[in-house]
Amino acid sequence: MATQDELKQQVAKAAVEYVKGGIIGVGTGSTANFFIDELAKVKSKIDGAVASSEATAQRLRAHGIEVFDLNSVDGMEIYVDGADEITEHMHMLKGGGGALTREKIVAACAKTFICICDASKYVPVLGKFPLPVEVLPMARSHVARELTKLGGQPKLRDFTTDNGNIILDVHGLEILNPVEMEAKINQIVGVVTNGLFAARPADVLLLATPEGVKTYK
Ligand code: 5RP
Repeated sequence: MATQDELKQQVAKAAVEYVKGGIIGVGTGSTANFFIDELAKVKSKIDGAVASSEATAQRLRAHGIEVFDLNSVDGMEIYVDGADEITEHMHMLKGGGGALTREKIVAACAKTFICICDASKYVPVLGKFPLPVEVLPMARSHVARELTKLGGQPKLRDFTTDNGNIILDVHGLEILNPVEMEAKINQIVGVVTNGLFAARPADVLLLATPEGVKTYK
């Protein structure tokens, strides 16, 4: 039986099949790290990458992959990233690694979002994993009160984002309408982004299962 890390490695290898050239958008987290290690093996095929976090930029550079500022590129064919949860509708809950805002921005600039996950992330309903919300520090208490009104229990994470903000992890939400909830939370003054990726869902899901990597489109 493959370990979770072996499954992540398998799905990272499968994602490299989608790398045809140009500039690749790269996500953050342990699965994305496996993808970066695989991407390094085909780095002569690409011009470079746009990173969704400082950690990802560092790992890309350590492999000798050029990292471009997002503002210096016209867009990307693909963005490859993991998720904390994903549904059959390709709606994702992300941000366990705290990089949700930059992930959402880079993903918005890519034609195809390829989500790479092990089978444990495939869920019927989002929300068992606490929903990360990036918040401007001065708005912390206000946003926490508003999130409580939506039925969640926000907990301050001991973490500062790459953008200098805080994260509230919202426990206890059963997110039956992710598109609506994403928009609702984004409307709270002081919220920078929330970890629901539903308005712009994944285009391709590569899911590593004990029976092999399954592709959903
Ligand atoms: C980081 C993320 C990650 O994609 C998500 O947390 C999954 O991480 P991992 O691949 O380590 O399970 O959204 O902000």
